[in-house]
Amino acid sequence: MGRQVLVTGGTGYIGSHTVVELQAAGYDVVIIDDLSNSTAEVIDNIEKISGIRPAFEEFNLLNNVQLEAFFEKYSDIDAIIHFAAFKAVGESVAKPLSYYRNNLVSLMNILDCMSKYHVSNLVFSSSCTVYGQPDQLPVTENTPKKDAESPYGNTKAISEEILRDVVQVTPQVNVIALRYFNPIGAHPTSLIGELPRGVPGNLVPFITQTAAGIRQQLSVFGDDYDTPDGSNIRDYINVVDLAKAHVIAIDRLINKTNAERFEFFNIGTGKGVSVLEVVHTFEEATGVKLNYKIVDRRPGDVVKIYADTTIANTVLGWKAETSLAETLLSAWNWEKSVRNL
Ligand code: UD1
Repeated sequence: MGRQVLVTGGTGYIGSHTVVELQAAGYDVVIIDDLSNSTAEVIDNIEKISGIRPAFEEFNLLNNVQLEAFFEKYSDIDAIIHFAAFKAVGESVAKPLSYYRNNLVSLMNILDCMSKYHVSNLVFSSSCTVYGQPDQLPVTENTPKKDAESPYGNTKAISEEILRDVVQVTPQVNVIALRYFNPIGAHPTSLIGELPRGVPGNLVPFITQTAAGIRQQLSVFGDDYDTPDGSNIRDYINVVDLAKAHVIAIDRLINKTNAERFEFFNIGTGKGVSVLEVVHTFEEATGVKLNYKIVDRRPGDVVKIYADTTIANTVLGWKAETSLAETLLSAWNWEKSVRNL
């Protein structure tokens, strides 16, 4: 039997792409997911891509009795990737307690079980949100962190602090936190991708739904920022490239090549792209015209952020490979396959 990796949130957007890459690298995968923001069909589609069906247990990580029963049943877990979390920024402002409870208690339950069941290796889904609006760009891993802009963002900042403190007193535990910039796109097979429930909050799902005719018009939130074309700048990272960074992080922990017991890495392209550039690149890559309008700024948006990826490039040997145009085309192909267009 190969090395076994537990992937929490493994039927979600980034989780499902990571499961595929882990299986391609020879890992056995067990998923825990409560299907609160995904469906069991994702497992079928992972199997279609990989030819391997991952094991799947459906429950919520707040339930520590079920989590302990899980570790009794799966006693050979070599590493964990913890994706499962709430991630809607706006919703987190409306429901802070629900975000703090879900995102922090689930992490603490996992850490308890790592000690109890002697699991040493954890990869944690973090976010560039921990930097807030940085004073200097691009951001390196050592750029000072600012206050989070939302309870969601704060759960990621606090989670990193919890991990740092736990690693300090638990010699057996090793953690890599990957700070994602803006993950977009879908698997080239169009069998898995991002499936937001309701009105999408994120840019690219809103674009593809507008192109598909589900939304009438894309709102571009502001063109009067201090940027070359006035719209916000982000670092959009292809989800398959991002998934591959997790496999490298798992290899690093399992092979014990990590330099420190708590490491963190920026996972982005290193390139800042504006909202209007995303819109126009989408139009060029797909040949579909987007109906869009400039509207007021969205409260809480940082003006510009993009990654310095030197450390991920040199230490992990990981690099973003897929172009923005190809990535946006993959998002469009996925939207078309979901809508039978
Ligand atoms: C946000 C969070 C980030 C989190 C991510 C998860 C902040 C500052 N960042 O990223 O931490 O990991 O969500 O989903 O809270 N835009 C439009 N029209 C739209 C939608 C978006 O113009 O309909 C613009 C936004 O103003 C922004 C860019 O597109 O400039 C990207 O927005 P979005 O996809 O929501 O991601 P972030 O806000 O960068």
